[in-house]
Amino acid sequence: MAYEKVSNILKMAEKANTSAIAFNCNDYTMACSVVEVAEELRKPVIIMLYPADSFQKNCCGIAGFAATVKELVDRVEVPIGLHLDHCSDFNAILHAIQCGFTSVMYDGSMLPVEENIRLTRRVVDAAHALGADVEAELGHVGFAAQSDQEKEDLYTKPEVAARFCRETQVDSVAVAIGSAHGVYLETPKLDLKRLEEINKATDCPLVLHGGSGIPNDQLEQAFRLGINKFNVGTEYFQLYYDSIREFCQLNADKGNVLDLPLFVQERLKAYLRVKMQLSRL
Ligand code: 13P
Repeated sequence: MAYEKVSNILKMAEKANTSAIAFNCNDYTMACSVVEVAEELRKPVIIMLYPADSFQKNCCGIAGFAATVKELVDRVEVPIGLHLDHCSDFNAILHAIQCGFTSVMYDGSMLPVEENIRLTRRVVDAAHALGADVEAELGHVGFAAQSDQEKEDLYTKPEVAARFCRETQVDSVAVAIGSAHGVYLETPKLDLKRLEEINKATDCPLVLHGGSGIPNDQLEQAFRLGINKFNVGTEYFQLYYDSIREFCQLNADKGNVLDLPLFVQERLKAYLRVKMQLSRL
């Protein structure tokens, strides 16, 4: 099946009062595991590429990644979206769309609101003309290692969210409600009251970043209170690298490394089977 539009997957999630899950991947093994488990569980899912990984050559590059994922997605029936994660470079965003990404994130979250609105709107106009969806960020989801999840002045304000979504016409908006990227120093506590107010203030689907390490009970509530896209990166990557390490230790005195991809995929798939159950899609 061809890629499904991310906006359509988010509509399905909204209708089911739950969230779709989006996994950061940067190679065939990570993406293939997501596609195969999604097909097995019949759950729509989103594959994301963090562009810094491709710029730093930790992956096959934007065009190569889009082609790799397209081939995987063409083999299955379940709806799967392809999304470019955090990007603030207008030309790189257009390039990704031309390479086959049907959804992009423009991240202007560190800019003053007026500037964020102006530059997000510029991306929305260009991306929509090419048939692609746009996610933006309002407030700022920082890094767990810097205790950014405690910086309430960076949290999303409901009334500003309403204006932001109206004026930019984005397809989804990432909100800052107490999550942060990376490994949390302490268990995060989502500001669910704020989430409820943001959800009341706008019809735009809401996105939760920094998904690794948030307790399931908080996630379940967040999904019921308006989160329709949930991003997971760190814990999936950690498992990926741990599985490679485990294989190398187990096979230290054997010359054969050909079984590595399947060994790693088995580990990744066991994790994904559990994680994907969080979504009621
Ligand atoms: P984590 O790496 O903290 O899971 O966050 C992923 C994310 O939000 C990608 O945009």
